[in-house]
Amino acid sequence: MADESPLIRSLRAAVAAAPGDVPLRLHFAEFLLAEGRNDEAVAEAAVALQHAPGDADARALMVRAMGLPTTPATPMPPPATETPAPAPTPAPDEPAPDAPTPSFDWNAAEQQVQDLVGPRFLEDPQAADGDGTAGDAAAWDVDAPGSVRLADVGGMEEVKDRLEAAFLAPMRNPELRRLYGKSLRGGLLLYGPPGCGKTFIARAVAGELGASFLTVSLSDVLDMWIGASEKNIHDIFETARRQAPCVVFLDELDALGAKRSRTHHSGLRNVVNQLLTELDGIASGAGNEGVFVLAATNVPWDVDIALRRPGRLDRTLLVLPPDAAAREAILRYHLRERPIEAVDLGKLVKATEDFSGADLAHVCETAAETALLDSARSGSVRLITTKDLLGAAKQIKPSTEPWFAAARNVAMFANEGGLYDDLLAHLKRKRKL
Ligand SMILES: Nc1ncnc2c1ncn2[C@@H]1O[C@H](COP(=O)(O)OP(=O)(O)OP(=O)(O)O)[C@@H](O)[C@H]1O
Ligand SMILES: [Mg+2]
Repeated sequence: MADESPLIRSLRAAVAAAPGDVPLRLHFAEFLLAEGRNDEAVAEAAVALQHAPGDADARALMVRAMGLPTTPATPMPPPATETPAPAPTPAPDEPAPDAPTPSFDWNAAEQQVQDLVGPRFLEDPQAADGDGTAGDAAAWDVDAPGSVRLADVGGMEEVKDRLEAAFLAPMRNPELRRLYGKSLRGGLLLYGPPGCGKTFIARAVAGELGASFLTVSLSDVLDMWIGASEKNIHDIFETARRQAPCVVFLDELDALGAKRSRTHHSGLRNVVNQLLTELDGIASGAGNEGVFVLAATNVPWDVDIALRRPGRLDRTLLVLPPDAAAREAILRYHLRERPIEAVDLGKLVKATEDFSGADLAHVCETAAETALLDSARSGSVRLITTKDLLGAAKQIKPSTEPWFAAARNVAMFANEGGLYDDLLAHLKRKRKL
């Protein structure tokens, strides 16, 4: 950006000073486009669309900047209506001479957008929809947008990168998502051994999207009355729509969507069907803007395959036991209010490979108990040491072992369509195959 023209520089400053001025921003984007800086122009158009979602000029500019053909499928206005007064047409209205590549750098665009706008969604989602009165209260508990972010998830860079690329980047901007088509509409299924951060990550995703968070587990949904469970599912998605932007988190998906063939209990089958209907509704877009679906399971092989079809929960993310950096973060967290002395975290991290987040919490508790018992016995208080912690780690077997034993068979013998490729790769890395 160092040798940028004075005109672009001052336009950039003007836009920064008046972030909500859509015509000004589009004017700026036109200049960027004329200079062949398509990615930046896309980012500016994206911000303009956040301020004015239906703006025809912004859409047209976006399409041009992305180098997309104006196919009839995209409800774009005809190009003729595309030059209203404000812009003094700095550039001719044809595509930039060097044809832009259709591949688009999400990260660059995200960074641009980040600099230019603050919150990605309306300040007060509750008041933004419905009539904004207290009577709008949800039947299901929805957590207001929380403060947990991906940065709070220790380590696990691979998971974070995949989340960013496969889910967050496209989801953050509804307009970009729509332009990029249906392939990005489905939800994300997190799977992995118990206690390794699926729920925590789902919350962080909601935090990243500035979205409320609605957790659904099977026990919340099933009802002894015929038809009531389906109604519950429907109500949940209705609530989410009212509270949009909202992440609906379907926990224990295996129970909720147990393989239909195995589900003799017809009530449960209806629940699955209702869930399919809702997911398809989200995929079709109409009225579902800002509703994101995440799901989690420890037994993905028990999840009804219909739930994983394209447009439904069609992306999966393997959440493995915390890596070294994650273990360190988790241990620090659990030790933060305990009386410790010169704890060698490095050693402890090494001694806790394959431990889940829950196991690590257990290690810290056990070590604290040991120190407490000692103090009581000897009559003089002593602090928790590395030795206590390493001793506790030795006593505790990682609870993820049985999971890997079961998962290994599935990955080896039932890896249909490469569903478990990530898992296989991990097992190979660990020489567990
Ligand atoms: N990478 C991490 N950084 C910080 N804390 C973590 C991390 N991973 C897990 N934790 C912590 O570990 C604990 C267990 O995580 P969580 O409940 O999200 O696991 P889960 O996979 O949803 O488990 P389950 O399968 O039992 O539902 C939580 O207290 C969470 O805060
Ligand atoms: Mg969980």
